[in-house]
Amino acid sequence: MAKNALGELAAKLSDRHILIAADLKAEVLDGLDVSVIAERIASRHKDSTTLGVVNSEEVVSIIKEMELDKAPHPIEVIHKAGFRPAAAEIDANYSISNNEIERSDGNVGAFVSYFRSRLDKLRKMLEYRSNVTGLLASIDGIKSYTDGREVTILGIVTSIIATKKGNIMAVIEDETSDAKVVFVNGSFGSSKDAFDRAGTLVTDEVIAVKGKIAGELLIAKDFVWPDVPIKQRKEVKDDFAIAFISDLQVGSKLFLEKNFSSFISWLNGGTDRMPELAGKVKYVVVGGDVVDGIGVYPNQDLDLAIPDAYMQYKVFFNLISAIPDYIHIFVIPGNHDSVQRAEPQPQLGPELIGDFKAENVHMLPNPSYITLHGIDLLTYHGTSLDSVISAIPRMSYSNPEKAMIELLKRRHLSPIYGGNIVVPSKNDNMVIEKIPDILHMGHVHKNGLGNYHGVKVVNSGTWQAKTEYQTILGHMPTPCVVPIYDTKSDSFTTIDFGAAP
Ligand SMILES: [Fe+2]
Repeated sequence: MAKNALGELAAKLSDRHILIAADLKAEVLDGLDVSVIAERIASRHKDSTTLGVVNSEEVVSIIKEMELDKAPHPIEVIHKAGFRPAAAEIDANYSISNNEIERSDGNVGAFVSYFRSRLDKLRKMLEYRSNVTGLLASIDGIKSYTDGREVTILGIVTSIIATKKGNIMAVIEDETSDAKVVFVNGSFGSSKDAFDRAGTLVTDEVIAVKGKIAGELLIAKDFVWPDVPIKQRKEVKDDFAIAFISDLQVGSKLFLEKNFSSFISWLNGGTDRMPELAGKVKYVVVGGDVVDGIGVYPNQDLDLAIPDAYMQYKVFFNLISAIPDYIHIFVIPGNHDSVQRAEPQPQLGPELIGDFKAENVHMLPNPSYITLHGIDLLTYHGTSLDSVISAIPRMSYSNPEKAMIELLKRRHLSPIYGGNIVVPSKNDNMVIEKIPDILHMGHVHKNGLGNYHGVKVVNSGTWQAKTEYQTILGHMPTPCVVPIYDTKSDSFTTIDFGAAP
């Protein structure tokens, strides 16, 4: 292979009247693009009128030069002299409360305990709901009742089918047994609202159903999700702002680095746009896919400007090192990051962080609970949004906040098992146990803002231009739009860094 590379180089250079000295060893060219090396040699010798000779030393220095070109270069960040950020005067107040990331051997026992944990956690939430009355302790309790008796049961939805008569039949299961539940289309049995909502059921979620026993069926009258009770607004004493970003996809040819630099310049007070808000930003939350990674999808190398994951992270850390140090930055990984793909994902490790060191930058797992001055924030990359959008009618990539609200109702970040890879650990850590004040996700490259029962829902879009794949699917990404939450006004402002400031 290497010998051929030497021959190839010699052939390319002989056209340009350049010879290779005998000291150049074939191994030096191992794994390198010979055409690029030939071009660089030719350009060094372009002014020579005589026959040129290139020796090993020169080739090695050209290879080093190529490596240096790939290395991250400092970005241009504009600072304004008179910028007096209010956030620099506020003490940081944050805490992280994540469950430990558990491993799993993936055997049958692991799956059983994983789903049991899901059922137990969500059962506790459903038992607290005021409209869940007369709940049987277990599904097999049905057997002791006769036809016509009204009961409430609770379980995991294992299958959903549309029947020939236009009804919806779901099988729900717990540790003891399963039951066929029918949601009737029409005035008999089920309420219209219950029937319509049954059309949005997904597999592996947990519900409580009230209905009448009819032979081996339960004719559903109504059903409920664990859901989120209405939350009162929290009073926050400190006046500051949180900027949400995600899906930078550094390393992709379509990473919009110049726009990202203008966001960082904005944080440094370098633009005239809303300088007061810029100065209030105390926290930046990065919702995963910080790099594009390598080998994430077939032929990805064709889309990469930086075909080396370590170098991609170097560029990422170089970029965020230009964020003022009074701002705390929380980084979780996503499905493109070079950590374990199965969720919950561990934080970016030392091998990816390299020699980057900054006390204001915190690597966290995906998902993570972060409390900022009393504001509970749940940040999750959002990989499960793909399966939720495809499974639930009327969900779309245009309104990711709607799919995020569906997850809140189900109190689960990734209800559909197999939709994305999840570790079947003893504890189902994707259950939304603590209701956040803000639920943040990314992944779908489309911004979205919403509010559900007082929980603010935010999707922070992307910094990658529209890909060919998104064009085929008809997706309309919203790159470079940053949602910023302001504690004083209790609202979001979005700033578009896509256009020139
Ligand atoms: Fe993603």
